[in-house]
Amino acid sequence: MKILVVGSGGREHALAWKLRQSHRTSAVFVAPGNAGSKACATTVPIQADDFAGLENFALKNAIDLTVVGPDNALASGIVDRFQCAGLKIFGPNQAAARLESSKSYAKEFMARHGIPSARFAICDSVNEGLRAATRFGFPVVIKADGLALGKGVVIVQSREEADRVLHRIMDDRLFGDAGTTVVVEEYLQGIESSVHALIDGERYCLFPTAQDHKALYDGNHGPNTGGMGAFSPSRLSSSDLQAIEEGILKPFLRGIQSDGVEYKGMLFPGLMLTERGPVVLEFNARFGDPESQAILPRLSSDLIDLLEATIEGRLGEVAPQWSTAVSVCVVLASKGYPERPETGKPVVGLDAVSELRDVLVFHAGTREHEGRILTSGGRVIGITALADSIRSARRKAYDAVSMIEFDGCYFRRDIGSIGTP
Ligand code: AMP
Ligand code: GLY
Repeated sequence: MKILVVGSGGREHALAWKLRQSHRTSAVFVAPGNAGSKACATTVPIQADDFAGLENFALKNAIDLTVVGPDNALASGIVDRFQCAGLKIFGPNQAAARLESSKSYAKEFMARHGIPSARFAICDSVNEGLRAATRFGFPVVIKADGLALGKGVVIVQSREEADRVLHRIMDDRLFGDAGTTVVVEEYLQGIESSVHALIDGERYCLFPTAQDHKALYDGNHGPNTGGMGAFSPSRLSSSDLQAIEEGILKPFLRGIQSDGVEYKGMLFPGLMLTERGPVVLEFNARFGDPESQAILPRLSSDLIDLLEATIEGRLGEVAPQWSTAVSVCVVLASKGYPERPETGKPVVGLDAVSELRDVLVFHAGTREHEGRILTSGGRVIGITALADSIRSARRKAYDAVSMIEFDGCYFRRDIGSIGTP
């Protein structure tokens, strides 16, 4: 089979790497990919939002399966477009992806179907927002309704701050149209976690757990990022998992069926484990990044079989095999990430790391220039190590990290050593 992966991050590199291993694969293409995807795939210089270009490429090259990484492409309807052209594609269609791309839609969906989430109000003006914030009390959470590059959620401590943030989002349009509507939400206390489950419209297939480290600095301090590292399995207990299956995944399936939403793809809910059990903070309609860089290396069976079964509504027929090895993924980021990452710095040491056993290098913001690899984004490289304990996976990952250098390279030193905020 010929496979096309859409996107350019570490997640897409990990997907391409895993898809390449299938005996069913004859070729893997990544559009646009990065300097690292070239090791396992052919990179194609078409951006993830150029749907016409991607569709032409897939038709011309008789692509058998396209796998979509980023949320924006799903939210803008890449799946619907490929399906209209008769192309097989993995990911939810535009209507289903609204569960990630519109927080108000997701909140109403959860309320309708008894899925636990924070108390909320959907607000179309600053005044409405302020009234709701005051009603819930402080701290309170203000969320731009639409996709905002992971920056659309602000926790505010006072009425003055809420006023300022609501004006910035709704009047100054800090996040553009994503902030026309906001969701104001009760602040929840607890331990953050997430799960990944494939959804074929009628069934789910739970992936092993993984824990992201979202904050920039050690000890979970500093601003939130896309994710500075992950480990798998996470410390979710089996009773937590059971509560997630019963209280979230099963009602989710009943909800999409009763609403007539055809959801086929990955569902990756962000959760807060509270005193009253797991509560959904948000739905993501895609693989997490860096979570996928920690989870996919633990899959010992075929990924194409799983993705096809999801698309074809046959998840009941597949039984993925997972390695018992533990994985730790450490992200190397550019100086200035997440606000203003410096780019264009040469990366050295990658060849030596590629020789290491049970260590994988997934590229994110890298590009090749005159035979050298240069940084080209905020998150540059993810190093995943596999071992029989989290301690040794951590040691292996950090040994490999110490072999890689670029000007301004920053990484957290506590990935995998703390599981709770
Ligand atoms: P979201 O994009 O909705 O997951 O929000 C991003 C981050 O904001 C989450 O990972 C949490 O750290 C935080 N957050 C979101 N909603 C809440 C909430 N209701 N209570 C506390 N923290 C929240
Ligand atoms: N690591 C969090 C995310 O992919 O949204």
